[in-house]
Amino acid sequence: MPGAIYAEGLVKTFGDVRALDGVDLDVPEGTVLGLLGPNGAGKTTAVRVLTTLLQPDSGKAVVAGIDVLKHPNEVRRSIGLSGQFAAVDEYLTGRENLRMVGQLYQMSSRAAKARADELLERFNLADAADRTAKTYSGGMRRRLDLAAALVVSPPVMFMDEPTTGLDPRNRQQLWSIIQELVAGGTTLLLTTQYLEEADHLAHDICVVDHGRVIARGTADQLKARTGGERVEVVVHQQDRIDTARTVLAALGKGGEATVTVDEHTRKLTVPVTGGAKLLAEVIRELDTRGVEIDDIGLRRPTLDDVFISLTGHAAEAEDATKSEDAAELAKNTKEAGK
Ligand SMILES: Nc1ncnc2c1ncn2[C@@H]1O[C@H](COP(=O)(O)OP(=O)(O)O)[C@@H](O)[C@H]1O
Ligand SMILES: [Mg+2]
Repeated sequence: MPGAIYAEGLVKTFGDVRALDGVDLDVPEGTVLGLLGPNGAGKTTAVRVLTTLLQPDSGKAVVAGIDVLKHPNEVRRSIGLSGQFAAVDEYLTGRENLRMVGQLYQMSSRAAKARADELLERFNLADAADRTAKTYSGGMRRRLDLAAALVVSPPVMFMDEPTTGLDPRNRQQLWSIIQELVAGGTTLLLTTQYLEEADHLAHDICVVDHGRVIARGTADQLKARTGGERVEVVVHQQDRIDTARTVLAALGKGGEATVTVDEHTRKLTVPVTGGAKLLAEVIRELDTRGVEIDDIGLRRPTLDDVFISLTGHAAEAEDATKSEDAAELAKNTKEAGK
C-alpha cells in the first residue's frame, strides 16, 4: 500500500530546465521524509506539485490517499503547507492572521481564538501578537507562517525549508515542535539544505540534485555508503610512518586494509569496523611498537561527507542572514516607495 505521500515519475519542465526529472517518493504514514538538496535541485517544485499548486508535465501523485491531479480540492483539505511566507497577510496582526486561518477552515471563532493564542505562545510571538505582520523581522514572519500551517493540525504536512532564516534557538524550538507533531501521527515532508536538520528529524532522506533523486535511505544508511568509520592517526616522527602503516593495515577493516598516508602532515587514515574498542587496540599496538602519536581519533562520516561524495560539491545552505536580509530589504523598499 502506498504511503501518505506517494509520487511516481514526476516530471516538470520550465523551458529548458527539467526542474523535476522523474521523481519517485513514498512516505509511510507517521514518518518524516527529508528532501535534501542544494539550491535549484527541484525541492520547491516537488512540494508545489504535491500540494496542488503546480501541474506536473507527467507522473502521478497521491497524498493522504487522494489523487492530487484528479481531486486537488480534496487534497487541499487534508494538508498543511508552510513555505515562503505564503500564508501571512502583512496588514493583519499575528493574532488576526492565525484566527483567520482557523475561520477559513471552519473552526468556531472560540476555537480559532484559543488555537491562535496557543500557537502564538508556542512560537514566541505572544509579545508581538497585536502588531501587524509587516513590522515583523524575517525570522518572526517565518514563525508566524509555520504557526499558520499548524492551526488545523492536518494529517499530512509539507514544510519547505522551515528553518532557513531562523536563529539557533528558534530552530531548536521548531525541531521539538516538529517532533511532537510527528509523535502525534502527522506525516511530514520537509525540504532542507541543512544536513544536520535532515539528520536530526528525518526517518528517511532523499538526496535530490538536478531534479532527480540521487540517493535515498536513513541517515545511517547514507553514511555507511560513503565507507563507514575510519581511524585517523598523526604519528610524531616521520620515520615511524611505515611501522604505523603496517599496524593500521593489519587492524583495519578486513585485516589487509588500505591505509592512506599524508607524508607531509604524518597523518594516516584507515577504514575500520569495531569503533572505540578497535581504537583502543590500535593505540596499544602502536605503543608496543614504539610509535609515538601526536593525535588519534575515530571519525564517522557525516551527512556532509555523503553529500560531497554524491553531488561532488559541498551543501551550500542558503545563508540564514542573507534570507533574513532579503525579507528586511523587501520591506524597507516597499516602505520607502510609499
Ligand atoms: N516558475 C519557474 N519558472 C522557471 N523556472 C523555474 C520556476 N520554478 C523553478 N524553476 C527552476 O527549476 C529549478 C528547480 O527550482 P526549485 O524547485 O525552486 O529548486 P529548490 O527549491 O531545490 O531550490 C531551478 O533551476 C529553478 O530556476
Ligand atoms: Mg526552494
